[in-house]
Amino acid sequence: MDKVFIRKEMIKRREEISLAQKSHMDREILKRLLESKYYNNSNVIFTFVSFKKEVDTHNLIGQALKDGKKICVPRVINKKSGMVACYIDGLHSLTPGCMGILEPGENAVLANKDDMDLIIVPGLAFDRKGGRIGYGGGYYDKFLEELPGDIPKVAIAYDFQIIHDIPMHQHDIKVDLIITDKGIYYC
Ligand SMILES: Nc1ncnc2c1ncn2[C@@H]1O[C@H](COP(=O)(O)OP(=O)(O)OP(=O)(O)O)[C@@H](O)[C@H]1O
Ligand SMILES: [Mg+2]
Repeated sequence: MDKVFIRKEMIKRREEISLAQKSHMDREILKRLLESKYYNNSNVIFTFVSFKKEVDTHNLIGQALKDGKKICVPRVINKKSGMVACYIDGLHSLTPGCMGILEPGENAVLANKDDMDLIIVPGLAFDRKGGRIGYGGGYYDKFLEELPGDIPKVAIAYDFQIIHDIPMHQHDIKVDLIITDKGIYYC
């Protein structure tokens, strides 16, 4: 199976879930994440801002800020430079950017990669070895490659997004852990 086929298939499967099913699964995933040592030991969390049928991160952002953690989220510069991370104090300061995804504005404070201690990674499909497929921009591969190696990279996904084998290439960066609505996979 090639990446293009897997992406199409997963987007289709995600479209098929009802909003009620989605909120149930989102709650299960958030509960597992909030109970984890990764969350509880973190001070500065990088997370994607969920869009459409992606696993919700809006509630995670709200809860983490309430818990006194610092949150930074991506701002896409361009295809060549990739994305940077900026601190936010809530979703209210975000506006639609690349592809309509909510992101911080130009004046937002840049986050230093060395300060982050937990990275929440999106994706369309994963395997149990930590293999990952995103939307095909290479934005996350580039971003994750430039991170210090000891920061945990935790993917959040619906359980059906875990497949047997992801075709991985040299530039593809693996995740350390996948949290789904059914459980936690240590890669
Ligand atoms: N570290 C990198 N530096 C430069 N180009 C890269 C890097 N990582 C990936 N790319 C390029 O980005 C393109 C898309 O990569 P890939 O198919 O792995 O995307 P993806 O993992 O699905 O996307 P994303 O990382 O945004 O979630 C490829 O053409 C690849 O060569
Ligand atoms: Mg990739």
